[in-house]
Amino acid sequence: MAKKPAQRKNAKISKTAVRARLVEAAKAAQKNAYCPYSRYPVGAAVLMDSGRIYTGCNVENASFGLAICAERVAIFKAVSHGEKKIKALCVAAKSAKPCGACRQVIIEFAPKDAEMIYVDWQPLERKQKITFTTAGKMLPNAFNPSEAGL
Ligand code: THU
Repeated sequence: MAKKPAQRKNAKISKTAVRARLVEAAKAAQKNAYCPYSRYPVGAAVLMDSGRIYTGCNVENASFGLAICAERVAIFKAVSHGEKKIKALCVAAKSAKPCGACRQVIIEFAPKDAEMIYVDWQPLERKQKITFTTAGKMLPNAFNPSEAGL
């Protein structure tokens, strides 16, 4: 059988393929959610300027206020690897949408046109609903880094 040609390292990948990768990565991360208190698992995947994808899940605590959202885990992982610019971010949950605190953290690292993908789904159900928006629309009139001195 003929061998498939090896994919070039920097081969251009279609927007659809990138979106599909992000959705799958967010769903996979959701499986690792530590949410024994809320029983509300969330997964996130963030595509950075470098082309790398970082994932996160929500991590709760017996001291409830210490819980951290999936989106912030993914973004902080990316930043701790030296990445500072978000190209796209995907959240997967029963009713997926970033909370207010996460929106502010996203705005710190995302240009207004960065794509936000919300995947409403439940692992045991077959249907899912995907919504596309942008960072700018997600948090209009944001207090942004330039206003704080950057
Ligand atoms: N949660 C997220 O991980 N991301 C969001 O954007 C909304 C809320 C988590 C926090 C908590 O562990 C659980 O979902 C219920 O609020």
